[in-house]
This record gives sequence, structure tokens and C-alpha cells, in this order.
Amino acid sequence: MHTTRLLNQETLKPKSVGATLKRLGAYFARYKLALLGIALLLILGTWAQVTAPELIGQTVDCYITPAIAGGISPQGGAPEMMQQMGGESAAQTNCWYNPLPPTTTTTGYIQALGMLVLLIVGLYALGSITGGLQFYLMNWAGQHVLRELRTEIFEHVHRLSLGYYSKNEVGDVMSRITNDTNTIEQVMGFALIQVLSGALLLAWIVYKMFSLNWAYALISISVLPLMIIATVWFSNQARKAFRVTRSELGNINAELQEGISAVREVQAFSREGVNIERFRESNAANRDANIKAISYTSALAPTLEALGFVAIAVVVVVGGIMLLKGAALGGSVVSLGLIVTFLGYAQRFNQPIRQISVMWTNIQNAIAGAERIFEIIDEPIEIIEKPNAKALPAIQGKVAFVDVWAEYNPGEPVLKGINLLAEPGQTVAIVGPTGAGKTTIINLIPRFYDVSKGAIRIDDFDVRDVTLPSLRSQIGIVLQDTFLFSDTVMSNIRFGRPDATDEEVIDAARLAHADSFIERLPQGYDTVLGERGSGLSQGQRQLLAIARAALSNPRILILDEATSSVDTRTERLIQAAMENLMAGRTTFVVAHRLSTIHHADQVLVLNQGEVIERGAHEALLARKGFYYDLYMSQFRRKA
Ligand SMILES: Nc1ncnc2c1ncn2[C@@H]1O[C@H](COP(=O)(O)OP(=O)(O)OP(=O)(O)O)[C@@H](O)[C@H]1O
Ligand SMILES: [Mg+2]
Repeated sequence: MHTTRLLNQETLKPKSVGATLKRLGAYFARYKLALLGIALLLILGTWAQVTAPELIGQTVDCYITPAIAGGISPQGGAPEMMQQMGGESAAQTNCWYNPLPPTTTTTGYIQALGMLVLLIVGLYALGSITGGLQFYLMNWAGQHVLRELRTEIFEHVHRLSLGYYSKNEVGDVMSRITNDTNTIEQVMGFALIQVLSGALLLAWIVYKMFSLNWAYALISISVLPLMIIATVWFSNQARKAFRVTRSELGNINAELQEGISAVREVQAFSREGVNIERFRESNAANRDANIKAISYTSALAPTLEALGFVAIAVVVVVGGIMLLKGAALGGSVVSLGLIVTFLGYAQRFNQPIRQISVMWTNIQNAIAGAERIFEIIDEPIEIIEKPNAKALPAIQGKVAFVDVWAEYNPGEPVLKGINLLAEPGQTVAIVGPTGAGKTTIINLIPRFYDVSKGAIRIDDFDVRDVTLPSLRSQIGIVLQDTFLFSDTVMSNIRFGRPDATDEEVIDAARLAHADSFIERLPQGYDTVLGERGSGLSQGQRQLLAIARAALSNPRILILDEATSSVDTRTERLIQAAMENLMAGRTTFVVAHRLSTIHHADQVLVLNQGEVIERGAHEALLARKGFYYDLYMSQFRRKA
């Protein structure tokens, strides 16, 4: 089930973080200027955040304390009080804005204080502006990289051979293009900046504290390890619980899907009670796991907050005692301003830690996502043109299989030495039991797969020596299940040859006997079909496919006849359309209709990858061999 895989994918651990980051980095390297800008802004913004508390401390030490010490008299003075207030360190404090003479008036102090406060406000503003700019630049670069990644996958996905798609689910490939790029988008737009700025801020704060007063710093950050331990523990518990949540959610989805799609069987066998009971259990398990996970995540924030208060308390108590005692700590006297600065820093502890812990999970997801994307991009393209491949000229339509062997898995041949020659305009019907290799044979002609031994020649050109578009554009294919796009009928037919005029499209539809039903559609040729052509019957879809092939006017035609029966009228229409289409073209048809076989120039009877009988229908019947039995059991009924 896709949903389950999708959810499980979120818990994927990246396998090779280093290599993946290096590769992602290479994409970003193209935007060096933006990255440089981001780095500068990051440093500038963090500097502003770290400096603001220091300046707030300075307002105390450089102005408020001296002013109080000065007795707040318009005359100023009274330096003896400064000793008591720890004012000595104010003299040591490196005041940023201190143009004042030692004695001054209250108004002078207030003016200077005003300037400093303006500076602080300016710093906060700078912090906000750089934050915004970083966000913009990071998203700008991130979106460019994402666009490149998506384009690269999309292009690669188109070149991968059918073999890849038979081994990989389309849903998985799509989820890589959408979900995995999304996880990267989140990280590039948001999480990366948060983690980087959080880490830088934390480191800078710690550095700053140590440079101001190492002993006081050591005491103040004593709570930090506790915060980190708490964060790691809570996140781990939450992650474990979320993992259970996801797998339970997968079960719920699986039960829902099965229950709903098999509702007829469920009702027929009166299994509703059992199903509902099972669903109830999974649902309850999911609820419990979710509540557990949420209890861990909701406990983290208050825990960090509480520890933050402890840090603040430590700063205040230790600083306060030292201040009151006038004692030295770490070689210098603790000033009131220093306490204020440290308070500012201690308040900033828990935010970066929380940011990092939350965003780290996102980053891991993104790296795992990038790995899955690179896996697709690295998927080798099996069908490649030779460097010296030439365009296949306009062909007559002679097709030769020369001792052709083919295998999907190495060492397990599914075609064993097929020889066959179709002259231009001939029809070759391929019949055989299921799994005989019929589809494999027709897949080899347009080179959806390569032969493992032998060669396929078209007009004496080996298909591996010519360019793919020149080969495939001369081959028309009508498969059992026609893919129609949610577009107009006109565009759907025109898919066969994009430069065809409306008249040519209508001519092709007429040849395919599709025009009568198209004209009865609400908007005729302009009717927009539903996804995959829903709203049309299977027979009508096949008529459109025939029109599409007719429009491209190929020399070689490949038909995989529908096994499912349509009504006799449509059946006859399709038959007539096919005959129109086959006229004058070399045709390979995996035949299920007796009439097709009757018309064929040669019938190839395939069994277990080998041609066991060949010839015209009548002659084959007369032999009373494998074909005779097959005919009796399979075609007779449909005749
Ligand atoms: N993509 C694939 N990967 C691996 N094995 C494959 C693949 N496609 C087909 N095979 C195997 O190759 C053999 C031939 O398959 P093929 O589809 O050519 O049979 P077929 O004659 O078209 O059968 P049917 O009448 O049921 O369509 C089968 O044994 C099948 O299991
Ligand atoms: Mg088949």
C-alpha cells in the first residue's frame, strides 16, 4: 500500500549523510553569491542578537549606576557611592557610547542613555531585517535548486526503460518527485536557517559570556547540559512513539482500503462485524500511540522553560550575592550591568535548543529524501543510443528477427532463438498461451527492451544502430489498454503527430471509424475526456487509439488485440478500423480474433519463448498440432 510506504518513508534514516550533503551542496554551489549573502546576514543577525543584551548591560553600568551614584543631582558628582554599587567595574566597562565628562548633569545622562537605547532598538531592528533577508535568500536559492532537481528527475524518468517501471511502482516514483522534494523544500526554506542560526547564536552567547566573565559564565551555563539532555531524551521518546503511530496509521489505511473496495464481498459473507472490530482495535492503538507521542512533545516545551527559569535564577542569585558582597568572580567584580547582560543571555538559551531539536528531524528527513531522489537520477538508462547512431531513413517496412534471445532477468531467457522475416506490407499474427512471450516480441521492435543475443533488423538497419526517435516515429502502436489524456478528443488523436491539422485528425478518425461516436459527444472533437479517458467505453477508447496510430502514418504497425470482448457492433467497427489501418503496412499483431488470423500472411505459434509452429492458418490447422489444439480451445469460441 502506498500510504503505508509513504508514511514509513518519514522515519527513514539517511544512509550516507556525507555523500548526499556533498551532492546537494554541488547544486547550491551554483548560487555562491546568495550563499555568501546568507552567511553574512547570519553572522550580522546573530551579532545583533548577542550584542543587544550587552548594550542593555551597558545602560546600567555606564549611565544608570553612575547616575544613581551621582545622587541624581543636576550637579552630578559623589564618586564615593560608586564603590558600593559595584561602580568600579563601570569604569572598566567598555562603554560604547560615552562621550560624557566624568561629572555631568542628569539631563546629560538621560540624553546619553537615550542614544544607547536607540542603538539597542537599532540592533533589534537589524536582527529582524537580516532574519527576513536570510529567509528570502535561502528560499530563493532553495527554489532554484528544487526546480533543477525536479526537472532532472522528470527528464530522467522519461528516459528510463520500461524494464525500470516493471520493477518499480509508479506511486513510489511519484512520491519521490513530490513528497521527497517537499521535505527538502521545507528544510531549505526554513529548517536549515533555524538550525544554523540557533547553533551560531548558542555558541556565540557562550563565547560572549566566557569573554565577559569566565567563572560567572561557567556557573550560568551549568543548566545548559541539562537542557540538551532533556531535549534529546524527549525527542527520542516522541520519535519512537510517532513511529508506532505511523505504522498503526498504515494499518488503518490498509483496513479502510480493503474494507471499502471489498465491500460487496464483506456484505455477501456478513463479515461487517469482524471488520469493524478489527478497525476499532487499530484505531484505538493509533489513538494511544498518538497521545503518547504528543505527551512527550508537549512536555518538552515546559521542561525547557522550567530549566530556563532555573538558569535565570542561577544568574540572579549568584550574581546578586557577588554584587552585594562586592566580591570578585573570575578575576573581576560583578557589576549590575553584567548581571543584566547575563540575564539577557540566559533567556535566549532554550529557544535555539528547541529549534535545533525540532528542525533536526526535518533535516534528517530531507537528507533521506535527497537520497531517494538521487537514487532515481542515478538509475542507469538501459536503452541508450550509440554515440554514432544515425537517423533511420524513411523505411519500406521489412522486419527481420535473427536468432533473437531476450531476458528480463539475467540468465532467464523468455525468448529463445526467434527467427522471422516480415516483408513490407505483410501481416504477422503471433499466437500462443499466456506467458509465451508474445508481448515481449512486439516490445523489442520499437526497442523498449534490447535483445540479449541476436539482432532485429528493419530494412537491414539494426535497431540498435539508429536513433530512437527516428525508429519509434515510424512504428505505430495500439495496445490493449489505451492511455488517453484528460484533454480534448482532438488533442488525444493529435498525440500521434503533433503537427497534424484539424482536417488530418478528422480524416484519421474517419479511417478508424471513430468519427460517428465522436460527433455524438457533447462537444464533438472538443469534448474534454476525463482522466485516462473515463467516460468512454473500452471499445471507443480503442477506436481513438487506432485513429491516433493512423494519424502518425507508420510503416510498421504493432497491435496487441484486446482480449475482453466488446459488443458485436463495436467489435465489427474495430475490426474494420484495424483492417483500414493495416492496409499496406507491415503489421505485427498479438491476435485474439479469428478474423485477424485469417487475414495474416503468416501465423507464429509461440510456446515458452520458442516458435513451435508457423505458416498460414489453414496449413497449421491441417497439421493438427499445437496450433490446432490452441485454436480449438481458444479461438473457436470467439469465432
Ligand atoms: N517486466 C518483466 N520482468 C520480468 N519478467 C517478465 C516481464 N514481463 C514478462 N516477463 C516474463 O516473460 C515471459 C513472457 O511474457 P510476455 O508478457 O511476453 O507473455 P505473453 O505471451 O504476452 O503473455 P499474455 O498472453 O498473458 O500477455 C513470462 O514468463 C513473464 O513472466
Ligand atoms: Mg502479453
